[in-house]
Amino acid sequence: MNTKRFVRGWTGIAAPLALATVALGLNATRLAAQAPAGGPPPMPATAANLAGKTAEQFYKKIDALKGIPAAEVHPAMEYITTALGVGCGYCHVPGKFDSDDKHEKNVARSMMKMTMALNNTVFDAKREITCYTCHRGAAKAASTLALAGDKVPTEPSAAEIFPALAVMTYSSIEPDMSPSKAPATVMAGPARPAKAEAPVTLPSVDDVFSKYEEALGGKAAIAKVTSLVHKGMAEMLVPAPPVPQGAPPPPPPAMGSVAAELDVKSPKGVVSVIFPGRGPQMMGFDGTIGWTNAPNREETGGELLIVKELGETVPALEFRKQHTNVKVDAMEKIGDRDVYRVVGTRKEGITTLDRIYFDAQTGLLARTYTTMQSVLGGFPEEMTYEDYRDVSGLKVPFTMRVVSAEGNRTYEWSQVDANAPVDDSKFTRPEPPPPPPARPAAD
Ligand code: HEC
Ligand code: HEC
Repeated sequence: MNTKRFVRGWTGIAAPLALATVALGLNATRLAAQAPAGGPPPMPATAANLAGKTAEQFYKKIDALKGIPAAEVHPAMEYITTALGVGCGYCHVPGKFDSDDKHEKNVARSMMKMTMALNNTVFDAKREITCYTCHRGAAKAASTLALAGDKVPTEPSAAEIFPALAVMTYSSIEPDMSPSKAPATVMAGPARPAKAEAPVTLPSVDDVFSKYEEALGGKAAIAKVTSLVHKGMAEMLVPAPPVPQGAPPPPPPAMGSVAAELDVKSPKGVVSVIFPGRGPQMMGFDGTIGWTNAPNREETGGELLIVKELGETVPALEFRKQHTNVKVDAMEKIGDRDVYRVVGTRKEGITTLDRIYFDAQTGLLARTYTTMQSVLGGFPEEMTYEDYRDVSGLKVPFTMRVVSAEGNRTYEWSQVDANAPVDDSKFTRPEPPPPPPARPAAD
């Protein structure tokens, strides 16, 4: 299953509707600390069990990631699978995440150390270099530029000739190589002509948000809606129904349309899609815990932040509470519509910039762009909101388009009900399956 990418299980909006968490191919493997064979059963990686622990206090074979919070391990793993375009099984023996038997895992560990050493020295301890900087979604990082439409061969592409010609003086990386230490330009070039474009006058942050509130139907209408039940279809990569054991493998996932539902009862939310022959795939937030059902696990770190957004009745309304340095910084186009771009620095988790876009004419939210951040890097999730319609006095988007590294999807809601009763149990993480029977001691 090496370089093959699987349909990712889940997926958040604005993130919450697209954030993926898993390769379906490894559904059964549970992400938990691995107990030695015959030892006590592994402790499940729930947020509560991870809380207050470092990676090495919870997991068994941590070396490169020593010192980071245990809750940040899974987001980092999710990030590297995206950065390299692989599944977990590319580096891990399924079900034995602590095993160091695979060459790829050992290479990846060295790569983590190299990347961190580069950042800590040459890049002033900022996370400038990530796996993606070199890998660009492929397991084999390329050293030669690919021509358009070129299929890059899978053999290593390093030039064997290099040592013979190379300058061999440099073998270590030093802080004084930092771009910030490079001498400033001494001689200025010819002055650049001033830009002729008329400057756009941008509205204030307050203007943008009060116009948004008004466009949605006003404060009172927003406050009146305590729950929203969206029903419709999701256009996305759909895995084929499972095949019985011994039968030829099912065809690869293909774009298709499946039944979808999104329930929001702030701060709780849950989204589900039904794959033929596989039952619902769900992702939810119960007010504290963020979870997926297949595989059955809790989200932590940057992944949890994204799942939390499922509980927003109105997307991005709380942006100013969750971010600092909020600014309207540009006017852009989405399709043929003018939009104002609002940026802000996220307060919780790993510091990063989020962007949201408001239709300059209607005042409604047009798009959100956020990232799942891990210690090793981040990947983006973009959500475009369209087809706003009135639901009990509140404007609700009936089309939500997710663009994500993990596969795009479009939700088309045919019905949205405000204040329909939603049972709280809907938002609760389903009981995890019983742990696999303990393996007999191997040696
Ligand atoms: C490119 C290789 C690579 C991929 C892909 C990868 N991992 Fe890892 N994983 C590692 C390395 C390397 C470590 C050890 C890190 C260290 O030394 O601190 C690790 C450690 C772990 C651990 C800790 C195990 C223990 O008890 O010590 C877990 C759990 C884990 N990975 C889960 C996953 C999951 C789940 C996925 C898929 C979403 C995944 N990994 C994808 C390379 C990978
Ligand atoms: C400075 C560029 C660079 C960065 C940053 C980088 N890599 Fe690599 N990586 C490479 C190159 C080049 C190769 C190929 C070496 C070869 O084929 O001999 C490679 C190979 C690998 C391989 C082995 C692939 C295979 O199948 O042989 C893994 C796994 C890997 N990198 C993981 C990572 C991870 C995980 C990160 C981030 C923590 C990372 N790399 C960051 C350049 C980089």
